[in-house]
Amino acid sequence: MVGLTKSNALFESAAKVLPLGVTSNFRYWGPAKTRYIERGKGAHLWDVDGNRYIDYRLGYGPAILGHSDERVDNAVSEAIRLGQNFAMSTTLEQEVARKIVAMCPGVEMVRFTTSGTEATMHAIRLARAYTRREKIIMFEGQFHGLHDYVMFTSAIGGDVHSSRYSPVAIPVSSGIPEAVRNLVIMLPFNDLEALEDEVEQSWHEVAAIIVEPILGNCGGILPEPGWLELIRRMCDENGIVMIMDEVKTGFRVARGGAQEYFGVTADLVTYAKALGNGYPVAAFGGKRDLMEQIGQGVSHGGTFAGNRVGMAAANATLDILANTNALECVAERGRELQAAITEILERTRLPFTVSGHPSMFSFWFSEEAPKEYRDWLVSNRTLYEEVATGLIERGIMPEPESREPWFMCAAHTQQDISDTANALEDTLREVLHSVAAKYAFV
Ligand SMILES: Cc1ncc(COP(=O)(O)O)c(C=O)c1O
Repeated sequence: MVGLTKSNALFESAAKVLPLGVTSNFRYWGPAKTRYIERGKGAHLWDVDGNRYIDYRLGYGPAILGHSDERVDNAVSEAIRLGQNFAMSTTLEQEVARKIVAMCPGVEMVRFTTSGTEATMHAIRLARAYTRREKIIMFEGQFHGLHDYVMFTSAIGGDVHSSRYSPVAIPVSSGIPEAVRNLVIMLPFNDLEALEDEVEQSWHEVAAIIVEPILGNCGGILPEPGWLELIRRMCDENGIVMIMDEVKTGFRVARGGAQEYFGVTADLVTYAKALGNGYPVAAFGGKRDLMEQIGQGVSHGGTFAGNRVGMAAANATLDILANTNALECVAERGRELQAAITEILERTRLPFTVSGHPSMFSFWFSEEAPKEYRDWLVSNRTLYEEVATGLIERGIMPEPESREPWFMCAAHTQQDISDTANALEDTLREVLHSVAAKYAFV
């Protein structure tokens, strides 16, 4: 079991200058459990107390090649000697843009940002300008970053939620203007009928349908056959811009992301995370006629847009992804881990499902594979969290909450998979013995 003496002391001092002792609310795990990390290498992390973890969070996805990949780090070190930011163009920008255009179906032009949040914000603005409409359709369980336009849910916890048939967009933070809420139409993911009905009623007000092609913020739920195709058709028939938010799936599920994997091309696409293997870089791009609105009255910019660190990291990462079998390795390790988890959970006789793309998937304590956010809400999340917490105690690091998928990287080894499987068996034995009255474990 891991000791966290130094992390605990750091938390105490950090909380004096950083709200909750962290720089992102999602990193707060309470005073006793909030970790401070010293370093990461490959698929492993070391905290300040010297505990080692096999990392399946990977910084919420970015480290597709593994932490501190030497090829990427060397490219960044070399590039930064030339200076960082000049508020003028560098050749790297067009090199990276050309690589994205070559790899990603339907992407004819791109612009860079520094975070996924900015990328979705700019894509939505562009869609609004292009269509001269203001509303957006988004789906339950998605996350598109921390700008006001997308910070909504429609179901909080297991009990308090709006009807599935007429979801109410509920802000997930104080400080979001009511006027913004009126611009959001929330629908269940994977519900073809609900989408068709809504578009029939509201198409003339809808600028964009923004969709995470795989619910990367709800365990990696996959789209049902026909779902992405229907969104494409609804957009085509009604002059709506289809925005695929590939911040999690981009340069992960395939070289050309979910667009390539599912064979559906959006009008605008957003990328971040794996694009720079952990360095801060993001992008939005898409069809030429839409993207060319930028500069014709549509604004986009940013002091750090196209910064050299991010560009050098993206340039090196894309080269590796394009020219090696890194993504095939990621998927192969993922399949091995999915199989190991399935084999172990079968022996517990608990209802469970393992679902998602091999590079970002989760398991659920429920009879059927979840198709949407509300299925996740009614799965046995408490049991999942107990298991995840037990794994972290044993040096295996998934996100404690089951909304975040398990992320695989090219640096995970078969040894990592078998260590993870052993830890899962131990954890389940302990967790299920402690609730033996409810469950039978053989
Ligand atoms: C699908 C999706 N879009 C957008 C974002 C926001 O990206 P960032 O955290 O880089 O602002 C995230 C972050 O997790 C995401 O998962």
